[in-house]
Amino acid sequence: MTDTNTKVREHYSATGLTGRLKSALATIAPEEQTLTVAQLAPLDQFHTRGILATAELAGVAGLDPSTRVLDLGCGIGGPARYLAATFGCRVTGVDLSPAFIDAANYLTARCGLSDRITLLAGDALHLPFEDAAFDTVFLQHVAMNIEDRAALYAEVQRILAPGGRFVTYDLVLRDGDVIYPVPWARDASTSFLLGENDTRAALEQAAFKVVLWRDDTQAAVDWFETAMAGPAPGGLSLGLVMGPDYPVIARNLARNIRENRLGVLSAVLTTARLL
Ligand SMILES: C[S@@+](CC[C@H](N)C(=O)[O-])C[C@H]1O[C@@H](n2cnc3c(N)ncnc32)[C@H](O)[C@@H]1O
Repeated sequence: MTDTNTKVREHYSATGLTGRLKSALATIAPEEQTLTVAQLAPLDQFHTRGILATAELAGVAGLDPSTRVLDLGCGIGGPARYLAATFGCRVTGVDLSPAFIDAANYLTARCGLSDRITLLAGDALHLPFEDAAFDTVFLQHVAMNIEDRAALYAEVQRILAPGGRFVTYDLVLRDGDVIYPVPWARDASTSFLLGENDTRAALEQAAFKVVLWRDDTQAAVDWFETAMAGPAPGGLSLGLVMGPDYPVIARNLARNIRENRLGVLSAVLTTARLL
């Protein structure tokens, strides 16, 4: 485990997370009742524009029940559950935080999706999978925690089958200093943001070809205006996962995007190798 990984893991350590989720969910449904992906969406989609962004990217990723999907940096599993429930595919999720994987397994069981989803703790740079094991890899709001971007994209390239798709949804540096803390880092020591051109260069150096490249910054600004208006019904929010300073870090993220310090980038890429 590198020093950076230890610090990133501490940032997402979330002591007692599964217990907190159980208590919060008891207010919307008894423990034996199956929950839906939509019910959990206010707290389990750990990225800008929440489930809207996952749904949009999934819509262009060409998924069907036979697609072998990896959600890299899967958090507490919201995107993995959305993909499995919507497209009927099998999804594997990997995350650096064991606390998140524990919570993700609990929530997946609550949604009755454990037969289609496998979740494990691990490092995106050293994945325990054979070459070409997946058809599609999702990476949503994870790359900014990873210093060695070349190694990250090379590992994604390795585990994708020829012709496979890489769906990446990321924050990118724009103009001015980033205001911390933000949802992925309390300070700059675990934040490894790149500009849009450098992101594209790193992807192309790893032999990815661009299928879709879209600036979603304005959509994010609009979304934050609504999201900041108040909590979701039932009071569920990412604050349950990130703790009491979540309002501050969410406001900082919104401000960084609104003031063009950060941009929001959606991209779909394919391996240059043919099927
Ligand atoms: C902002 S959250 C996004 C979670 C999820 N992708 C989502 O959108 O709901 C970033 C996640 O990346 C994970 N992460 C950071 N560095 C990682 C690494 N080297 N390997 C695997 N996961 C990592 C963190 O533990 C955290 O759960």
